[in-house]
Amino acid sequence: MSEQPIDAVRARIDAARSLFVLTGAGMSAESGIATFRDAITGLWSRFDPAQLASEEGFRADPATVWDWYAERRVAVRAAQPNAGHLALGAFERRRPGVLTLVSQNVDDLHQRAGNTGTIRLHGELLADRWLGPCARTPGCATQQARPGRPPRCADCGNLVRPAVVWFGEMLPPGAIEAAERAARGCDVALVVGTSGAVWPAAGLAAAARRAGAYVAIVNPHASEIDDEAHAVLRATAVQALPHLLRHD
Ligand code: APR
Repeated sequence: MSEQPIDAVRARIDAARSLFVLTGAGMSAESGIATFRDAITGLWSRFDPAQLASEEGFRADPATVWDWYAERRVAVRAAQPNAGHLALGAFERRRPGVLTLVSQNVDDLHQRAGNTGTIRLHGELLADRWLGPCARTPGCATQQARPGRPPRCADCGNLVRPAVVWFGEMLPPGAIEAAERAARGCDVALVVGTSGAVWPAAGLAAAARRAGAYVAIVNPHASEIDDEAHAVLRATAVQALPHLLRHD
């Protein structure tokens, strides 16, 4: 690991035939989206994270957990992609086929910035799914649920839940496999705004490095995977990404 000027990383990205980008909560911090843990404030501070982000917690008190996600959905809908998101969207349009974007974020800011095909390791806050398998064949659409906190299947009473990955749940099918394939196949891996504390996402930088990629980190603070990087840029996503991904 070494501290390197941003221009050295930028030159690597310019020359890359395949760029892998992994983003975490820090990517959306400058859009005003609180991290999951930071959002547990005010009225919510008496709740344990596991209560608000587990199937067990949801089954125990569906209305409270639904309200918590409803509040987070309002915050995400009100937020705007920042200059870092927009730089990634512009890069994908300018250099089609080069970027694989993998995000741990459940917001939709990469999608709104124009990135397509983003691998969303931890699901989607704004999407719904059934809590249990739908009892009918063919299955009912969650849009048909009777409104409520949470909405319910009018037929079998199944509850709607947000399509995020909760503690103890599997990642969306195929997501980590696709992310690992992209990490192993890239020339440059850029890791933005993640603490590197949550697995399996935390292993992707090391996978890229082992496969021969140049690895760079953008994070204003130390992260648990700094040692995996050839270059660590102590900057925010908004400070670094427009410059790193710029085209002259
Ligand atoms: N730009 C870049 N990085 C930033 C910025 C910023 N403006 N602000 C903060 N950071 C960094 C912090 O220094 C920290 O290392 O973003 C990181 C955020 O860390 P976490 O909150 O742990 O987020 P993340 O790594 O995405 O967590 C992984 O854990 O809570 C679960 O499912 C949730 O997807 C999340 C997962």
